[in-house]
Amino acid sequence: MALAAETQSIVNQFEYTDDDVNKGVKEFLRQMAEGLEKDGTSLSQIPTYVTGVPNGTEKGLYMAVDLGGTNFRVCSVKLNGDGTFNITSDKVAVPKALMVAKTAEELFAFLALQIKKFLEKHHGDHFEAHIRRRMTVSSPEGYKDENVFRMGFTFSFPVQQMGINKGTLIRWTKGFDIQDAVGKDVCALLQQEIDKLHLPVKVAALVNDTVGTLMAHSYGAPGSHGAVLGAIFGTGTNGAYVEKLSNVKKPMVGEYDTSTGEMVINTEWGSFDNQLNVLPNTPWDVVLDKQSVNPGFQMYEKRVSGMFLGEILRLVILDLLKNPDVSFLKDDNSSTNDLRSTTDIAETSSIFQQWGVDSSILSVAAGDHTPALTLLRKGLDDNLQIHAAAYEDAQAIKSVADAIGRRAARLAAVAIAAIVLQTGKLNDPAHKDEPIDVGVDGSLVEHYPYFREMIHEALSIVDGIGKEGAKRIRIGLAEDGSGVGAALIALVAAGMEKNTTDAEEILGELRSTAKAQAAASVDDEKATSD
Ligand code: BGC
Repeated sequence: MALAAETQSIVNQFEYTDDDVNKGVKEFLRQMAEGLEKDGTSLSQIPTYVTGVPNGTEKGLYMAVDLGGTNFRVCSVKLNGDGTFNITSDKVAVPKALMVAKTAEELFAFLALQIKKFLEKHHGDHFEAHIRRRMTVSSPEGYKDENVFRMGFTFSFPVQQMGINKGTLIRWTKGFDIQDAVGKDVCALLQQEIDKLHLPVKVAALVNDTVGTLMAHSYGAPGSHGAVLGAIFGTGTNGAYVEKLSNVKKPMVGEYDTSTGEMVINTEWGSFDNQLNVLPNTPWDVVLDKQSVNPGFQMYEKRVSGMFLGEILRLVILDLLKNPDVSFLKDDNSSTNDLRSTTDIAETSSIFQQWGVDSSILSVAAGDHTPALTLLRKGLDDNLQIHAAAYEDAQAIKSVADAIGRRAARLAAVAIAAIVLQTGKLNDPAHKDEPIDVGVDGSLVEHYPYFREMIHEALSIVDGIGKEGAKRIRIGLAEDGSGVGAALIALVAAGMEKNTTDAEEILGELRSTAKAQAAASVDDEKATSD
């Protein structure tokens, strides 16, 4: 009984009421406006220099790479021009040591090497042909420009963008920490390593994964006028949306096309309300933040995304274990267990290590509707070496895990609601009754049971949205933002550079021809005078 009462009191602390949701939305809108006015605010609102979303007719072969939270992925994408695409991709885990390497070069050299391996494996012919064509007059040090792959670089960390393929790292998130890279242009860092390996690849576009998601969802969303928001709820969380150019008040340094009157904004909402004006703050949130590599930052992300939910649960479990007034994961509850005779936590259980509890256990808990919570108890046994947990123990863990997951989903709704309201689409007479498309990706939306349903439920109580508005908000899984989305941005970027490239190429060719003719006439003169 004591355990049930204690659990209830913990669950109550994770309660995020309808009133909290509405307060959250108002503050989110306020911080969005602030971020559009000046730099250095908690919602960074970064202009991406992408000024429109695709309509599905785009065509061509592009490369895309993605450095996310855990893996590095290399792909080539053939856009077919009818909303469909073919993708070839390889993925490797980023070695933990490289996430906290001393120098940026160590990480980026590893990335370039994976690109080389990919090209050799999947584009061997193309690669060879490039090498044969290398020494052309127009590109003496390598490849003819049109044979160089344009590549979108999905780099899912906060970057101050200065142009479509230029941006300096503001700070690392998600456990990465390479101080040497902070303040440097990440596209240049990658291009340098690519050039060292003489690969026919140009980093054409710098892409946040949320921007890729937005683009991919607009390319593929059936009969839509383009998605309004691309969002990730995975290891980290963030969103990118289409803003009116006239609302972007802070200065932008790079070139961009003004004809659409729009600019895609990377909100970096992981850092929404770092000052904790409205975010909930339980004792476990406090400890998690204190022990993280970036205390005081990514405060919203630390309550919403996959990297952190398991850790919050772990901290609660540790507290329950230490509490002398409750019997939790102790033998006296094991009379009803059916896995082993005695409850036991292995000394080496990852429950005792920071980040030791993967958020996937929350999905197991949420999806376990068996009367004896058999799935969760098996999960505890297999993944955390918590052997033979009693039903009561599993029930306590499930209640807390569900409360953490539900709070995360309702917080996710705060960001989505604020952005939908900001776009004004709900009240736009030109698009009356049309669906409002939101493309989402990431492990939570893919695997956490009812995450999207819980978001929807919360959207329907937001002032200015309501039940009717919520029905129009269509939250769809975006197909491969970091692949096809990044390729689409590389295509946009290639278009932007085309005029200059053509001119440079023609001029270069003319110069070389002139030089060659001059040299030949000198030789001729020499020959005649000899
Ligand atoms: C990063 C964002 C990214 C998000 C989702 C956050 O930690 O700051 O740039 O979009 O994770 O991957």
